[in-house]
Amino acid sequence: MKIGIDKMGFATSQYVLQMNDLAQRRGVDPDKFSKGLLLNALSIAPITDDIITLGASAADSVLTEEDRAAIDMVIVATESSIDQSKAAAVYVHNLLGIQPFARSVEMKEACYSATAALDYARLHIEKHPQSKVLVIAADIAKYGIGTPGESTQGAGSIAMLISAEPHILELNDNTLAQTRDIMDFWRPNYSTTPFVNGMYSTKQYLDMLKTTWTEYQKRFGTSLADFSAFCFHLPFPKLALKGFNKIMDKSLPTDLQEKLKENFDKSILYSQQIGNIYTGSLFLGLLSLLENSQNLVAGDKIAFFSYGSGAVAEIFTGKLVNGFRDYLQPSRLEALKERTVLSVADYEKLFFEEAELDEKGNATFTDYKTGPFALKEICDHQRIYGKSND
Ligand code: HMG
Repeated sequence: MKIGIDKMGFATSQYVLQMNDLAQRRGVDPDKFSKGLLLNALSIAPITDDIITLGASAADSVLTEEDRAAIDMVIVATESSIDQSKAAAVYVHNLLGIQPFARSVEMKEACYSATAALDYARLHIEKHPQSKVLVIAADIAKYGIGTPGESTQGAGSIAMLISAEPHILELNDNTLAQTRDIMDFWRPNYSTTPFVNGMYSTKQYLDMLKTTWTEYQKRFGTSLADFSAFCFHLPFPKLALKGFNKIMDKSLPTDLQEKLKENFDKSILYSQQIGNIYTGSLFLGLLSLLENSQNLVAGDKIAFFSYGSGAVAEIFTGKLVNGFRDYLQPSRLEALKERTVLSVADYEKLFFEEAELDEKGNATFTDYKTGPFALKEICDHQRIYGKSND
């Protein structure tokens, strides 16, 4: 039975910070961001947009009534959790109107957990072929004003509907993970922003890529020559480019090397305009590849490198299925231009705003622009969500 990604939805915030503006304000050469990191802009979420609103918006954009009736598991993969106990998936399940007899759960391991969620979903469908699983990767990457990580922030969500006989990508069951107990990036419960050993994290990312890929090829008797594209976790596109160069096999025919590079360039287009969306960024890369590459055809194989700090990495692969383009949108680059551009001063206020609770645990918010769903208020310590125009 073929199991894989049937549909993909995407959402990001309605506000954007241009890297050139940030560079100017921080006294940095703009080339450091545009060439050194390969980043042009970052999506900036206001307080009324969080993993629930972004995750629900991404899924809502692709789900039919039939899907909502067939989904029996909702998984939200995130490291920007809004509650230590209640799963984000429970809120999302309600906002999307998914039938009640479903399991809803949240998963965490930095940027990696959506990959584990995909595998869990695949195994679930293997047992229950009529059902569908909704996997949502949603995060807001916030490092802090003036920190080295500030230029690699972002906000967004990818939703993937996993089913039998999928319309986009069939997942292969040859997966290989690697775990290393390291402190490259972590966020203790008492901190709203992460602690980061930036340079160390980039070295670990590249070494986990090299060692996992070497072992993957050995175990499954495959090589780069079998693939049309390689998608990477995208904390910032330049690091993925370094990863791409690391795994490139210079003995491959030149036309294949060129095709792989062309597809790599397409896979980073969205990320260059959005920044890091943590758990979703690998899949944002896939969406960008599929919606912008002209050279892919059904049957083409794609390899994926998932990396979450702490650290867990995984390599897995998939195969494009017939008619995959019918289940995608044309390039979304034009739509991204519709986001409201923030000055650096406004970004500093809007991105780092915290709810001001009164003594009863209530808070109200400015009516910021969001997608179809918004955090309306906090009432008695409960977050209240609804349609943004209600
Ligand atoms: P930085 O201070 O921007 O580092 O921090 P830099 O001074 O090395 O500059 C970056 C690049 O710009 C370098 O390129 C410079 O040469 C270049 P490279 O040498 O590496 O190719 N550069 C210029 N280029 C052109 N013109 C110029 C110029 N000046 C400099 N004038 C760092 C970079 C990544 C450390 C920082 O942004 C950071 O800490 N980011 C957060 C951590 C991160 O993203 N790590 C990635 C791996 S860990 C991961 O992927 C997991 C993660 O997603 C979290 C999770 O799993 O949950 C982060």
